[in-house]
Amino acid sequence: MAGQIPQRFIDDLLARTDVVDIVSERVKLKKAGRNHSGLCPFHQEKSPSFTVSADKQFYHCFGCGAHGNALRFLMEYDRLAFPEAVEQLAGRLGLEVPREGDDDPRQQVRERKRKEGVNLLELAASFFRERMKMPEGESARAYLEQRGLSAEVVRDFGIGFAPAQWEAMRHHLGGHGISEAVQIEYGLLVHREDSGRMYDRFRDRVMFPIRDMRGRTVAFGGRVLGDAKPKYLNSPETPVFHKGRELYGLYEARQANSRLERVVIVEGYMDVVALAQFGIRNAVATLGTATTEDHLSRLFRVVDEVVFCFDGDRAGRQAADRALRTALPMMIDGRQARFLFLPEGEDPDTLVRREGADAFEDRVTCASPLSEFLFDQAAQGRDLGQIEERERYASQVLEAIGQLPEGMLKSLLLTELSRRTGVDQSSFESMMMRHAGAAQEAPMETAAPVPPGEAGPVPSEAVGQAQGGSLGLMARALQLLVHEPGLAERLPDNDDWCDQEQSDAQLCRQVVRLLKAGGYRSPQVLLAHFHGTPEGERLAELARREPLVPKGVRGAELDNWVAYFQRHRRQRSPQEEYDALLARSRTGETLSQQERKRLSELLMELKG
Ligand code: GTP
Ligand code: MN
Repeated sequence: MAGQIPQRFIDDLLARTDVVDIVSERVKLKKAGRNHSGLCPFHQEKSPSFTVSADKQFYHCFGCGAHGNALRFLMEYDRLAFPEAVEQLAGRLGLEVPREGDDDPRQQVRERKRKEGVNLLELAASFFRERMKMPEGESARAYLEQRGLSAEVVRDFGIGFAPAQWEAMRHHLGGHGISEAVQIEYGLLVHREDSGRMYDRFRDRVMFPIRDMRGRTVAFGGRVLGDAKPKYLNSPETPVFHKGRELYGLYEARQANSRLERVVIVEGYMDVVALAQFGIRNAVATLGTATTEDHLSRLFRVVDEVVFCFDGDRAGRQAADRALRTALPMMIDGRQARFLFLPEGEDPDTLVRREGADAFEDRVTCASPLSEFLFDQAAQGRDLGQIEERERYASQVLEAIGQLPEGMLKSLLLTELSRRTGVDQSSFESMMMRHAGAAQEAPMETAAPVPPGEAGPVPSEAVGQAQGGSLGLMARALQLLVHEPGLAERLPDNDDWCDQEQSDAQLCRQVVRLLKAGGYRSPQVLLAHFHGTPEGERLAELARREPLVPKGVRGAELDNWVAYFQRHRRQRSPQEEYDALLARSRTGETLSQQERKRLSELLMELKG
């Protein structure tokens, strides 16, 4: 996996980019004195309160408070993840984005192989498209036409045809100098161990390229033209394809809508393209698996609302239940999930053809919100006239509510549960606390956080990593920063409080620097920055767990912890301190004046 993008490269990129250019390519701006101004793209307004400063290289909206640099603008406006925004800026300047460890030979080999794989898959995709245009592609063209797909949709989705031959692809790729080993690795060629035979994986099928967020082909799905089995054949897992992660149609949906706000998750390739055929260009499909957490976090990075589409039968209901469970922990305020059940025997493809686009859109609009579905689901098959059944109903709902992150939605649902059952809300709250305490992970906070000012000498868990998988104090500080990156602003400039032996201290320091340098406010930015690294995994893990410190007092609590860390800083020998400072300056970091002074003092002391 690729390493992190070096901070120096990001700084350099920002220095060479003019935020005014970036914004004005997307928003109409007028020059007003030293600044530019226009209508804010992030909220509805009639008179311009959005300004862009060329001097400060910042945009700021006096109406809604949106602000940031060029990278932030791209992330928010184009809804890109951090690395994508970096790629975008680098692309404008014709630069390749370096990754840490790029000079590590193993990393270079991996990177070369990845590129080779992607090229190979692009070659294969164009081969399939070419073949469909040739006489042998007649059967596939007829099939697609019979399924009502226009040339336009076929083109937008890059659909092609794998000829009914055993070695067509192998010869084609071989002609481009691609070894059989690589063809096998990327799932285009099959090698049978028993017979030693080698043949093309995809034969006589309509081919759907599966593209990643940036439009690069990473895999294929192929459908038979008739009723043969298996109906669909997918690429196997390869270095660039993990089926629990990719979503078919996401790239195409983003291409078709510059401001995508909602996606509809359906089951099949054909559903995605049929909906597109009817002008509904925001459907994506999982690739024959249930929706995973990876899928959802990918989607929630680009839209705020997902609508799950299910068959109306029992199996559909079960799938919906699984989807609900996956979605619950991710429902931070502002996100929405809804559940759409189709009439029995229909899938989106058949339904949109029968009813048309408007009727289908109406169904989407009327899909049950998560809150409603959650109550409905728990009520299924229960006679709520009976006390015991009502108890089970309430427990089931409560259990689900317990999975939600802290926030408005959680409180509202508790209120609703209390309304529906006639049980006092505070009883539910204490039940939930007990449940969470007993269940796993962090034992509940013993009490509310220490109020500011009363910064008790030691937060009780500081003593160690504490029992039963609960987080150490450094991890909890890091966790707060992941959840609310804006907190970094209140931290002292000097980050020596991170200088602890506790695990996570190193990462905490890195995160603090990054947040301070970038002024980032969104957890997604931070996670995206570390995506694909062990640090990224750790941060994602912390992000998934809701901090036990309630929202309004996190800043004060963090201050307490930092003060505690400062008091308990590990005593380092002058040599250690010197080495650490030197190491940092050697990696190209700019030391503060104070640190440089300290460095020379230490040098004197050690030499003297
Ligand atoms: P059509 O019959 O072409 O309308 O396809 P569909 O999309 O309606 O297919 P279906 O509802 O049967 O399956 C939904 C999805 O499950 C497909 O798009 C595939 O991703 C997956 N799937 C279906 N059949 C197979 C199969 O035989 N093998 C594999 N690997 N996946 C399948
Ligand atoms: Mn179908």
